[in-house]
Amino acid sequence: MRRLAALLFAILTAALPAPNYTTGIAVQSKPAACELDEPCSQSTNRPASDPSSVSHHPLDTSERKVENSLVGKCGLLWPNGDDPALQYFATPNCTNMYTWTPYCPQSAKTYNITCHPMFWGANAEGQIVGVVSNSSSPYVMGFNEPDLAGQAGLSPSDAAAMWNRTMLPFKTLGKKLVSPATTNAPEGMDWMDDFFAACGGNDMCGVDVIAVHWYSTDFGYFQSYVNSWKKYNKPIWVTEMACQDFSGNNQQCTLDQVFDLMEQALAWMEQDPQIEAYYWFGAFRNLTNVNPLNALMYPQTDPQHNGRPTDLGLYYINN
Ligand SMILES: *[C@@H]1O[C@H](CO)[C@@H](O)[C@H](O)[C@H]1NC(C)=O
Ligand SMILES: *[C@@H]1O[C@H](CO)[C@@H](O)[C@H](O)[C@H]1NC(C)=O
Ligand SMILES: *[C@@H]1O[C@H](CO)[C@@H](O)[C@H](O)[C@H]1NC(C)=O
Ligand SMILES: *[C@@H]1O[C@H](CO)[C@@H](O)[C@H](O)[C@H]1NC(C)=O
Ligand SMILES: *[C@@H]1O[C@H](CO)[C@@H](O)[C@H](O)[C@H]1NC(C)=O
Ligand SMILES: *[C@@H]1O[C@H](CO)[C@@H](O)[C@H](O)[C@H]1NC(C)=O
Repeated sequence: MRRLAALLFAILTAALPAPNYTTGIAVQSKPAACELDEPCSQSTNRPASDPSSVSHHPLDTSERKVENSLVGKCGLLWPNGDDPALQYFATPNCTNMYTWTPYCPQSAKTYNITCHPMFWGANAEGQIVGVVSNSSSPYVMGFNEPDLAGQAGLSPSDAAAMWNRTMLPFKTLGKKLVSPATTNAPEGMDWMDDFFAACGGNDMCGVDVIAVHWYSTDFGYFQSYVNSWKKYNKPIWVTEMACQDFSGNNQQCTLDQVFDLMEQALAWMEQDPQIEAYYWFGAFRNLTNVNPLNALMYPQTDPQHNGRPTDLGLYYINN
């Protein structure tokens, strides 16, 4: 059953966005518009906090938010390149994004959105170094669903070797490293344990933040699943989530259930100091990989609302 569930999960999630390394845009092939960031100018020179303190006493979230440039916890999953619709999504609390690529839309700067480059997988190794050296984000994000063949698809040891070689040197630039993000299939956390073991003498491969993906329909499960990742004693970013049944039973959420899950999950994450950021899936022009009721953006097929936030999107970015 476990194998079957994992197989179904793999098949059903294999359609999640893969980046186009020519354009730096995930999923849709829109005109190339992402630009590299300017040289680092807005990151602070404050000393890094000791992440091992997480287990000993509560984090000082106000302090942490300043030093990490995470003004709000809300983040945008943005596969749309330099889409003018970004103007509708930038709010004081929603000032982080990533694009599943090393690249960032040029307009992110206009809207004061901190865009984190992502070392998506092996194909991005040629781009990531140059991009990170010019990035103004204090963070670099790691591999996307390496436990899944259709995504980054890396064994823990191959991933650790690549991390040793390419991610760890970013620490000398003062960057914080966001872990690979596995699927929430049962094998996801096993992969992460094996990855950290393969990092050997490099303790947890220098990871500063644990990234977690979660797709299901039940808030209690969400809470217990995210809590289970606290065992690594690091801050947590939920870098993909949606009300989506990938179990194979296709028991998809109604819009009310999507709202309920979002309301409960956001309220809980906002008050939990160990959870620093969350990214709902997603602000897409064409949301086809999950139940479309999760859409934060009206599709371009809707001429009246073209590119504007849905009611769910408005709730999300103004929470
Ligand atoms: C990536 O984008 C380029 C330029 O738009 C396009 O020619 C190419 O077909 C795209 N590749 C994929 C895999 O979509
Ligand atoms: C971006 O930040 C700058 C400096 O804090 C501010 O002057 C500007 O109004 C902000 N722009 C937006 C769109 O929020
Ligand atoms: C980084 O920025 C510098 C200065 O703007 C530029 O010359 C260089 O090409 C950039 N690096 C990459 C990889 O684009
Ligand atoms: C990564 O580097 C550490 C420290 O040198 C080493 O112990 C570990 O074996 C390396 N892992 C891989 C997979 O190369
Ligand atoms: C949305 O994406 C699906 C799957 O890639 C595609 O078949 C469909 O034509 C797209 N719709 C629009 C309006 O772009
Ligand atoms: C931003 O988040 C804070 C803390 O959760 C909340 O008190 C505030 O109302 C939010 N701001 C907006 C504009 O929604």
